[in-house]
Amino acid sequence: ISFTVSSSNGNATSPYQYGLMFEDINNSGDGGVYAELIQNRAFQGNSEFPSTIDYWNPLGGASIKLQNMSTPLSSALPTSMEVTKGNATGTMGFSNVGFWGFPVVAGTEYKGSFYVYGGLDGNVTVCLTSNDDEQYAEAEVTVKSSNAWTQYNYTLTPSQSAPNSNNTLNFTFASSDLTNSVNFDLLSLFPPTYKNRENGLRIDLMDAMAGLYPSFFRAPGGNNVEGNAAPYWWNWTNTIGPLTDRPGYPGTWGYENTDGLGLIEYLLWSQDLGMEPILAVWDGHYLDGTVLTEAELAPYIQSALDELEFLMGDASTSWGAMREAMGYGPFPINFVEVGNEDSLSAGGPTYRAYRFQAFYDAIKAVYPNMTIVASFFDVAGDAPPFGAAGDFHEYAIPVQMSSQFFYFDNYTENNPILIGEYAIIEYDAFNTTGPKWNAGAPRAFTPFWYGSVAEAIFLLGAERNSQKMIGAAYAPSFQNLNRWQWIPDLIEYDAYPGHTTLSTSWYMINLLSGTRITENLPVTFSSGDYGPAYFVAGRSDVTGAHIAKFAVYNSTGDVPFDFSFAGVGGYAQGNLTYLTAPMNASNPIGGNIVETTTKTVTATKNGTFSFTLPEYSIAVFEVAAN
Ligand code: AHR
Repeated sequence: ISFTVSSSNGNATSPYQYGLMFEDINNSGDGGVYAELIQNRAFQGNSEFPSTIDYWNPLGGASIKLQNMSTPLSSALPTSMEVTKGNATGTMGFSNVGFWGFPVVAGTEYKGSFYVYGGLDGNVTVCLTSNDDEQYAEAEVTVKSSNAWTQYNYTLTPSQSAPNSNNTLNFTFASSDLTNSVNFDLLSLFPPTYKNRENGLRIDLMDAMAGLYPSFFRAPGGNNVEGNAAPYWWNWTNTIGPLTDRPGYPGTWGYENTDGLGLIEYLLWSQDLGMEPILAVWDGHYLDGTVLTEAELAPYIQSALDELEFLMGDASTSWGAMREAMGYGPFPINFVEVGNEDSLSAGGPTYRAYRFQAFYDAIKAVYPNMTIVASFFDVAGDAPPFGAAGDFHEYAIPVQMSSQFFYFDNYTENNPILIGEYAIIEYDAFNTTGPKWNAGAPRAFTPFWYGSVAEAIFLLGAERNSQKMIGAAYAPSFQNLNRWQWIPDLIEYDAYPGHTTLSTSWYMINLLSGTRITENLPVTFSSGDYGPAYFVAGRSDVTGAHIAKFAVYNSTGDVPFDFSFAGVGGYAQGNLTYLTAPMNASNPIGGNIVETTTKTVTATKNGTFSFTLPEYSIAVFEVAAN
């Protein structure tokens, strides 16, 4: 394949291009990026997921049960755990199993706290213990008997690492120190967090996301913003302030969300990774198909406006003053997405008839420069109204996505395109009804290499049309290996740090997102055409580099390239980086099968660069500014 890259008549690319999408699915928030280590720490519940004592076990013959006291810890947390002696005569207490275990890393400071009410007077021992009774770290907390809720703190610093996460957190005390009963609530334990934020995020997972160089952050949801059924929609006001003020939310993926990872935490996450937030707001549709009438929408539109005032208002506004009182400066919001996948639901017609417009008009009236994103967009189907942006989701099989290099050529520039979710989710061979995703076919457990290359072709197709795009985010981002609802996912993990796994698609995004073209430039072929090799070319006005990005798919052999960049002279040198892996292979837990090759390529006297790329490879070639 021979081609020349022009030096003029280019198109400025989107400043966002590659980003993240997040919702609590697969224990990606609780038990995932939210670093809290205790599961069911505050016995939160509601009519969808009633409070439970699950994940807690009695020790030494103690009796534990849920109790709704007349003096609860807070109105948001009405349920606590009552502990009585039961059959205990000596040391008694209870333990938590964590999110399927606890990590124990030597020298790490784990910081914890708990609230107590009632007849316990003495020392509580908190201990990280293995299932075969190895005690890794212990702290003593002196508790006073009291008829008021009191918070106590503790720190655990193991001197030795555990070989796995088969560990529990035990709270024990002498039964002789207990008169009648004692209640515990909001028991918490955090490892060090990303950028040392209190109530913060898991460092290895944040590092993994930072490695994708993300420029935008679409949250919260997916489905999770929608709510399963009334009255539970993703109500941001329940997710702010002290943890004692957060009642929790019946997540849409089969488990309770603590909301410890709330609105402010999302915005700090955005800030910490330098991402532009794309804030999803609830739009009057529940997943059970219930849709609000136009007249019923008003309080929810007001809630979205209040949310924006909370994030951006100054101290003269009531919501802005509340945020400032919490100690946070403003969080600028330039993008709001109204709902999620409204084209799919029975509520789709009402979205088009009045729901989207009502939110759009109200938000635009206050924030005329804000980009409002409609929750659907497909060039083959519905376009978003009013010049709004639209969110296109693509879950596909490789044969389909590898043919979507030109897909976005067919869109106009009137409505910016967000690819709010994409992924290859099945192997071609398991899909008997192709060429499209068949919800009934078996899923891939985790991304696999030729699927990741197919995704790269789709992404290069988005890059080639970048002047029309906002950017693209793989979904879902995370999978806890102990409980999940959706596979495949970009990053897998469990409680044991050594199990964190970056998928083949992570490596693909790391390469493509890590080098950004800011101006796409036209390409003239002198031989060959797109397919089985696909590429985009241009330059960066940040670094001055000339850049070409490639994906080679189903080529039955190496593909030779000869090309030049107008303006780049003879004997110039460029750096080639390409990724390869066995076609069907996936990354094993904690491992990596993607091979990275780097080479320096010197142009001929005439400025032609020549190299070959193997079948199923992804490459970035960069000539630094001279
Ligand atoms: O990413 C998983 C789910 O797929 C999202 O919640 C939803 O938007 C889509 O259907």
